[in-house]
Amino acid sequence: MNLGLRGKVALVTAASKGIGFGVAKVLAQEGARVIISSRNRANLDKAVSQLKDLAGSEVHGFVADLTRRADLEKLVSEVEELYGGVDILVYNTGPPKLGTFMDLSFEDWEEAVKLLLLSAVWITRLVAPKMIERGWGRLIYITSSTLRQIIPTIVLSNTVRLSIAGLVKSLAVELGPKGITANGIMQGHILTERAEQILEDLASRRGVSREEVMKEVTANIPVGRYGEPEEIGYLAAFLASDKASYINGAMILIDGGLVKATL
Ligand SMILES: NC(=O)c1ccc[n+]([C@@H]2O[C@H](COP(=O)([O-])OP(=O)(O)OC[C@H]3O[C@@H](n4cnc5c(N)ncnc54)[C@H](OP(=O)(O)O)[C@@H]3O)[C@@H](O)[C@H]2O)c1
Repeated sequence: MNLGLRGKVALVTAASKGIGFGVAKVLAQEGARVIISSRNRANLDKAVSQLKDLAGSEVHGFVADLTRRADLEKLVSEVEELYGGVDILVYNTGPPKLGTFMDLSFEDWEEAVKLLLLSAVWITRLVAPKMIERGWGRLIYITSSTLRQIIPTIVLSNTVRLSIAGLVKSLAVELGPKGITANGIMQGHILTERAEQILEDLASRRGVSREEVMKEVTANIPVGRYGEPEEIGYLAAFLASDKASYINGAMILIDGGLVKATL
C-alpha cells in the first residue's frame, strides 16, 4: 500500500532511541522528511546518521527537553524555519519515574505532569496553527497500554497519561472539521531500553532474575513475544496517511493481546 507520505514533514519527539526512533525510521523509509528531538545532542547525532543510512531521506535532529516549554517553542520555530510547518506530529515522551504510589514524592508527580501531559499540550498548541492554515494535519500521541490496564509499579503512567485520551478526543472534535485528525496509540511491551529498566526493577523488587521476569511477562502476551519499535512505526505511518482519514479520536491498543478487557 502506498501511504503517500513522501515529502510530508514529520516531527517525532523523544526519538533518539526506542519507540520514537522506530517510528522515525518507518516514516523516513516511507519518504517523509523527518525531524527527531530529544534531550541529548550525542544521542540525536547517532540516531540521525543511522536514519540517513537506513532510509536515505532528509532527517534532522534538534535538542529539546519535553519538560521545558521554551525548548519546544524553539524546536517548532526551527522546524518552521526549515520547512514552513509540521504536517505530522508524532508525540512520544521519555518514560516517567517507576514506582508505586507510596514510592513517589510530590515533586515526582509535578515532573510527571510536565513530562506526560503539559508537553503534549505545549507541542500541540505550537504545531496546530500551521496545520489549520494548511487545512491538513495528523496528531498522533504515543501513550501506553496502562490507559486500559494499570501496571501497579508505574503509577505515574497509570494516572497522568490517561489525560491524553481526553486531549485526543477534544482535538478530534475541534480540529476534525479543519482537516486534522488526532489519535492515540496505546502500546504494550516493546523491547527498548525502557523495557529493560522495567524488567530490572521488577526483578530487584521480587528478588528474582531478569530472565525469570521476562519469561513471566511474555507468557502473558498471547502472541508470545515483546513488540518491536518499528511495529509502532507501522501503525503511526498508517494513521499519518490519507488512508486513515476516517480514523479520528481513536485510542488504539497495540499489545499482542496483553490487555484482556473487551473494550
Ligand atoms: N517500551 C515499552 O514497553 C513501553 C510500554 C508502554 C509505554 N512506554 C512509554 O513509551 C515512551 C517511549 O518508551 P521507550 O521504551 O522508547 O523509552 P526509551 O527506550 O527509554 O527511549 C526514550 C526516548 O525518550 C527521550 N527522552 C527521555 N526523556 C526526555 C525528555 N524529557 N525530553 C525529550 N526526550 C526525552 C530519550 O532520549 P534522550 O536520552 O536522548 O533525551 C529517548 O530517545 C515512554 O514514555 C515509555 O514510558 C513504553
